[in-house]
Amino acid sequence: MFKNKVIVITGASKGIGREMSRALAREGAQLALIARGVDALTDARLQILEESPDCKVEVFPCDITNAAMVAATVEAIAQTFGSIDGCISNAGYSYPQYFDQTPIVEFEKQIQTNYLGAVYLIKSCKPYLKPGSFIAVTSSVLGYMGCFGYSSYGPSKYALLGLAETLRQEFAFDKIQVSVLCPPDTLTPGYELENLTKPKETTLLSQGIKALEPEEVASIFLKGLRKGKFIINCNMESELIFRFKMMAPEAYYKVIMSQLKKIKKKNPI
Ligand SMILES: NC(=O)c1ccc[n+]([C@@H]2O[C@H](COP(=O)([O-])OP(=O)(O)OC[C@H]3O[C@@H](n4cnc5c(N)ncnc54)[C@H](OP(=O)(O)O)[C@@H]3O)[C@@H](O)[C@H]2O)c1
Repeated sequence: MFKNKVIVITGASKGIGREMSRALAREGAQLALIARGVDALTDARLQILEESPDCKVEVFPCDITNAAMVAATVEAIAQTFGSIDGCISNAGYSYPQYFDQTPIVEFEKQIQTNYLGAVYLIKSCKPYLKPGSFIAVTSSVLGYMGCFGYSSYGPSKYALLGLAETLRQEFAFDKIQVSVLCPPDTLTPGYELENLTKPKETTLLSQGIKALEPEEVASIFLKGLRKGKFIINCNMESELIFRFKMMAPEAYYKVIMSQLKKIKKKNPI
């Protein structure tokens, strides 16, 4: 599915996006790597070339919150590679915090990065995508379930799911596959950063749940894409929560609230 395909990927310099890029390179894809920081991008490119010396891989520094910059970058990618066969909107970040302590600017920034960044990328890539190509976005398990402490992040990931459901219907007529990756906690530089502001209750809610390695997430993502899956969950736990939340939202609320009450009782904050 990926051999000699030209794939654009945002957030490619670190964490999940970097592992997706390495895995795609091993499958013979040609890669256009996007992120803001040139050093980490160059480092990712060199690692890919070391592991997959035949890979055509180029870096395109770009801030995905800037629509004009994204459009110019995608145009440059199409000129460099001659075509685009896949577009992965993966860049994003999380700022967990109590709603009362989250500044308005954080709500704005996460919508700009996590949601509008995806819109800009897909808008720019779509004219190049032919039948048989694909679009993927990285949402999160928090894209289908609300969680204490994620009032600014969760909605930006829910928005991606709403976008993808719509595009899946519209683009079916262009024979373009649309997929959404919904990772749980994954051990990345971004995850380390989000742990700095996480409310105590949020940390305790996920206590005992093992975070995944980004390599695992990347490998599950590629398998999901190959199977043409729409929602790509990364483990059985996420799959069960997804179904439970969709079918019984009130029961989901009761389970979470009973956990939170126990947490608050044991850990007065
Ligand atoms: N890690 C988790 O636990 C987890 C769980 C569920 C979902 N996710 C989602 O998975 C995706 C990747 O997360 P991660 O944990 O791998 O993050 P990460 O380790 O922080 O890496 C983020 C990547 O995105 C790039 N990026 C961030 N803002 C950007 C911008 N404005 N323009 C262009 N590139 C930008 C970063 O490079 P620069 O900073 O140099 O631009 C970096 O390459 C995100 O969408 C995240 O929300 C993560």
